[in-house]
Amino acid sequence: MSEVRIDRLTKWFDSGGVRAVDDLSLSLAEGQLVVLLGPSGCGKTTLLRCVAGLETPDSGTIEIGGAVMFGRGGRTQVPTHKRGIGMVFQNYALWPHMTVEQNVAYPLRVRGTGRQERSRQAREALALVECEALTDRIPSAISGGQQQRVALARALVARPGLMLFDEPLSNLDYRLRAQLRRQLRDLHRSLGFTGLYVTHDQTEAMQLGTVVAVLKDGKVEQLADPASLFSRPASAYVARFLGIGNRLELVRDADGGWVVGGGDARIALPAAGELPGTRFDLYLRSADVSLVVPGSGPEDPDVARVPGVVTDVVYSGDSSDWVVQVGDARIVASARTRTWPFGPDDRVDVVFRHSTALLYTHDDEGRLVESYGVRPSLVSSP
Ligand SMILES: Nc1ncnc2c1ncn2[C@@H]1O[C@H](COP(=O)(O)OP(=O)(O)O)[C@@H](O)[C@H]1O
Ligand SMILES: [Mg+2]
Repeated sequence: MSEVRIDRLTKWFDSGGVRAVDDLSLSLAEGQLVVLLGPSGCGKTTLLRCVAGLETPDSGTIEIGGAVMFGRGGRTQVPTHKRGIGMVFQNYALWPHMTVEQNVAYPLRVRGTGRQERSRQAREALALVECEALTDRIPSAISGGQQQRVALARALVARPGLMLFDEPLSNLDYRLRAQLRRQLRDLHRSLGFTGLYVTHDQTEAMQLGTVVAVLKDGKVEQLADPASLFSRPASAYVARFLGIGNRLELVRDADGGWVVGGGDARIALPAAGELPGTRFDLYLRSADVSLVVPGSGPEDPDVARVPGVVTDVVYSGDSSDWVVQVGDARIVASARTRTWPFGPDDRVDVVFRHSTALLYTHDDEGRLVESYGVRPSLVSSP
């Protein structure tokens, strides 16, 4: 198993038009599975391909297991097959004319391992992914899920120091994806390989990663363990990418209070007077928002309340989304179907605990407000 150090890596495309990886630094400790998470085009694949040696960076350093793979201004460039890596990509890329066992044994054959030992190790790797019964089949005679398991066995068979994954589950249907995700998690926990795993799927990132690096425009926007990422997204970009979709723009009025953008609803935040600035964006998870009859229930100093009007109710299986207009914001409250007796045009109070609110600066950076006096109660820690 190898540690990995990526230092100030930059990769341009289109003769300088696109900076796919932008002065990026990232370290993986031995045995860590680091997930690169971000929207399409943010540079995940390019970074992975640079680590694999399939793409030549413009500058920076890549070390695997303490050895420089790329560096010294490009004068050191170790070829892919000498980097000690195993790779699994979105398309399974098995050799169609070889049997499953021959496919899995191939990396060992390249290494010059003897026939019997090759077969033993290939079968052992196939057993890890529960495909030992498929040894003599050819890839076209097994399902997509099985092909991806075989590709995984082939990547693992030579026990590489580093495993690289680029959206390996994207071509599978929902159920299979969930199943393979769990299997991959178990394999990582039992084999302890070091891995770099690319995905745009936050569920995958949260379930698999020991550490998640959220990328934005070729840079690391946030690096954190899944629990911290979930409770404290460092920027509005990360919050939105994690599916925290409710945004209330808060504007300071003449009295130093806070008004919800586009309306006259006021919101009382604890110690709001200490906030530096006049405009903030408050983000809320839809599961943290509740609806009550206007003015009903006891006042609770830990709970914020703003009036709104229901515009839609969307049923999806066990749960439902209530869409509520609050000022110029559209707030979604999610709960089990029939939790609230409200329908379109009903007036409601939208309520949420202060501790569930995430407050960001209202600018391009959208940074989590760090200097806010009541942050410990406003932003929950893991
Ligand atoms: N071979 C290439 N030639 C030119 N531009 C590329 C190439 N590969 C990727 N890019 C560009 O680099 C950026 C990052 O792409 P990519 O690494 O594939 O992102 P992701 O994997 O996060 O979707 C995008 O703007 C993409 O269009
Ligand atoms: Mg990609």
